[in-house]
Amino acid sequence: MSGKTRENVPISRRRTSRNNISRWACHVIGSVRHVAIGLSSVLALGSGAALAQGFGKEPIKPLPPNPALDTAKVELGRRLFNDPRFSDDGSTSCASCHVVAQGGADRGKRVSVGVRRQDGEANSPSILTAAYNFRQFWDGRSPSLEDQISHVLVDPRELASTWPAVIQRLSKDADLVNAVRAAYGEAPSQQNLSEAIAIYERSLPEASRFDRFLRDEKEAITAEERQGYEKFKSYGCVACHQGVNVGGNMFQRLGTLGDYFADRGAPVTRVDLGRFNVTGKESDRYVFKVPSLRNVALTAPYFHDGSVATLEAAIDAMFRYQLGRVASAEDQRLIARFLRTLTAQSLEKSAGNAP
Ligand code: HEC
Ligand code: HEC
Repeated sequence: MSGKTRENVPISRRRTSRNNISRWACHVIGSVRHVAIGLSSVLALGSGAALAQGFGKEPIKPLPPNPALDTAKVELGRRLFNDPRFSDDGSTSCASCHVVAQGGADRGKRVSVGVRRQDGEANSPSILTAAYNFRQFWDGRSPSLEDQISHVLVDPRELASTWPAVIQRLSKDADLVNAVRAAYGEAPSQQNLSEAIAIYERSLPEASRFDRFLRDEKEAITAEERQGYEKFKSYGCVACHQGVNVGGNMFQRLGTLGDYFADRGAPVTRVDLGRFNVTGKESDRYVFKVPSLRNVALTAPYFHDGSVATLEAAIDAMFRYQLGRVASAEDQRLIARFLRTLTAQSLEKSAGNAP
C-alpha cells in the first residue's frame, strides 16, 4: 500500500477486534500483537476450535454464524423491508432496490430507480452482508444499519417520505400494528421499525463455498478458484478487500494509481466525490468505502457509478487504477472464478456460477 492510501484509513482505526484481524494484510502478518487480537476475536465468536484449522493466517475470514435473533423481530423486519408504504406514493420498498433472492442489489441497473421512476445517483450495493460493514453507503455517511434507513427514507429520489408519514400509514393496518406490538410491546415508532429492519438485515448473511474452504474443507473450491484466490492475495487486492466481508472495513481512493474519472469520460458528478461530500476534506475526494466482495457475482454493474458492466471488466479496472498494472486475460479469468466462490450457497445455482 502506498502512503497515500494509508492516509485514507483513519476512520477504521477504532472498532471491533474483527476489524483488527481483518487489517492484517496491511501489516506484518503474524506479529505477536495481531495474533493476540485474532485469538481473542475468534474465541469471542465461540469457535475456538476453528483456530486449529489454520484460517487464522488468511487475510479473509469466514463468516461467523449469524447472531441469535428474535424471530418475531426478524419476520417483522422482513415484512417492513418489502412494504411499499415506506415510500410517499406507495410505489417503492427497500426490496425494490435490494432484491434479496437475487443477491441483495438491483441486478442489472446502473443506478437504482426510486419513487416516480426517478434515477438515483448511485449503484445499489448488495445488502446481504451489509451488517459487517464498518460504515454504510459508498461514502460511509451512515454509522449503522438503523441510521441508514432514515437517510433513504427521506431521499427525494428514493422513498421521498418522512417517519411521521410512514408511521401514520402503517398505524392504519391493524395486523401490522399487532405484529409490532407482539415483537416490541408498543406501537410502531421510528426506533422499533428501524430496529426490526436492521435485525432482518442481520439475519441475511449466508456462508459461501469459500467460507467452507476457509474452514478447512479444501475441496469446497476447485483448483482454478484456488489459483484465483492466490492471485487475489499476491497482487495485493487483499490490502483493501479483506476481513470477514472481503471489504467494508476501510476507505480508499478510487484511482490510487490511475485517473479513473478522466478515463471514464462522463463528467464528474456529486456522488463521484465520495467521502469528500461527508468531510469536505480535499484528501477525501474520490475516496469510497471499499465495498464488500461477498456476492459480487450477483451485483453487476459495478462501482459506485455502475459504469462497469462485468466482473472481468471490474477486475481489469482495479488492476489499472488501484494497482497500476495491466491484468492478463488469464489473471482476470482466474480472479473472477475466485470471486464467484463468494456467493451465498443458496444463490449459487440461480446465479449460474456453481463450479
Ligand atoms: C431507490 C432505490 C433504493 C431503495 C428504495 C432503498 N435503497 Fe438501500 N441503497 C440504494 C443505493 C443506490 C444505495 C447506495 C447509495 C450510496 O451509497 O450513496 C443503498 C445503500 C444501502 C445500504 C448500505 C449498503 C452498503 O454497502 O453501504 C443499506 C444497508 C441499504 N441501502 C438498505 C436499505 C433499506 C433498509 C431500505 C428500505 C428502508 C433501502 N435500502 C431502500 C438504493 C435503494
Ligand atoms: C487500494 C485499495 C484497493 C485495491 C488494492 C483493490 N480494490 Fe477493489 N475496490 C476498491 C474501492 C475503493 C472500490 C469501490 C470503487 C467505486 O465503486 O468507486 C473497489 C471496487 C471493487 C469491485 C467492484 C465491487 C462493486 O460492488 O461494485 C471489485 C469487483 C473489486 N474492487 C475487485 C478488486 C480486485 C480483484 C482487486 C485486485 C486486482 C482489487 N479490487 C484491488 C479498493 C481497492
